[in-house]
Amino acid sequence: MNQEYLTYWGLERSPFQLAPDEDMMYLGGQYYECFERLTYAVNTNKGGVLLVSEEAGLGKTTLLLKLMSELSEEYGDLYRYSFLDHPTLTTAQVVAHIAAGITGMRAEDDKFKNLLAMKEALISLKKSGGKATVIVDEAHMLCDRKEVLQELRMLLNLTHDRQYLITVILSGQRPLWDTVKLIPEFWQRLPVKYYLVPLGIDEATALISSRLDKAGLEGDQEVFSQEAIQIIHRYSQGLPRTMVALADVALLIGYSYQARKIGFKEVSKAIHAISGKDDRGGALPYVGGPTGLPHPETSIFRGFLRRIGV
Ligand SMILES: Nc1ncnc2c1ncn2[C@@H]1O[C@H](COP(=O)(O)OP(=O)(O)OP(=O)(O)O)[C@@H](O)[C@H]1O
Ligand SMILES: [Mg+2]
Repeated sequence: MNQEYLTYWGLERSPFQLAPDEDMMYLGGQYYECFERLTYAVNTNKGGVLLVSEEAGLGKTTLLLKLMSELSEEYGDLYRYSFLDHPTLTTAQVVAHIAAGITGMRAEDDKFKNLLAMKEALISLKKSGGKATVIVDEAHMLCDRKEVLQELRMLLNLTHDRQYLITVILSGQRPLWDTVKLIPEFWQRLPVKYYLVPLGIDEATALISSRLDKAGLEGDQEVFSQEAIQIIHRYSQGLPRTMVALADVALLIGYSYQARKIGFKEVSKAIHAISGKDDRGGALPYVGGPTGLPHPETSIFRGFLRRIGV
């Protein structure tokens, strides 16, 4: 079924898988700018980076995966990293996890020994021209874990020849921004900051078309009509995760109806499907939010929802 549906649309692989995948990433607009800042921070030893998004599902993890993959390509074995995406550990466990990633060896039970081994490995890495990063994803989970935040801040004290030995990247949802701001000694050590916002229609169009291209779409065949993209953009409120999920279902529906392209009908059916109800009725969940996009009740979007019977 999967292969038939891909062949039907002239694709080689699934364009809209939900898991973050740096190979399917659209690297334009704010993503380009953010990626440039992240690489700049690592390459010039800026110390710390704060990456925050207005809403969930805006592409932070995807950006971080892309960063690690690019740095691995650039520095090879001379790139060492520790990636924490479940920061619900104790401070000693966090240090052990990071030390293991940086030294490439099993961590000790003793926090002090781990810190010493890490500093030694970092100095030798620096002498060989390498780079090290500690990336903490889902770092908003540390908002009420100040002791872990302080431990991460301490890593930024690791210097040699007046240069930072490691780049600490904190990534998370909006509360992280406010929390770190209230810790001036940490805030000041994160000179590179980036705040991702929901996508406008141009970025949304570019993201969908970039994913189709990367999935092997040939020529300039139009798979999604302009109207379909506008509806996807409005319904998703500019959030890539919802856009990707909706576009995926719309393609499947289009295939089952043997549509020539995805238009109004296919996207409306997809909205019914992903909102957990079929075409027979029932209420759609509220899809508003402080994103600057027209509110469903006050825009032409209301007309659309009425037309599809929602
Ligand atoms: N720049 C992009 N190009 C292509 N797809 C993207 C992009 N940004 C996000 N996506 C897609 O949107 C979805 C959510 O992305 P991701 O998981 O990276 O967001 P997140 O900000 O880490 O979310 P959360 O706040 O829940 O951790 C994924 O399916 C991802 O592939
Ligand atoms: Mg994420």
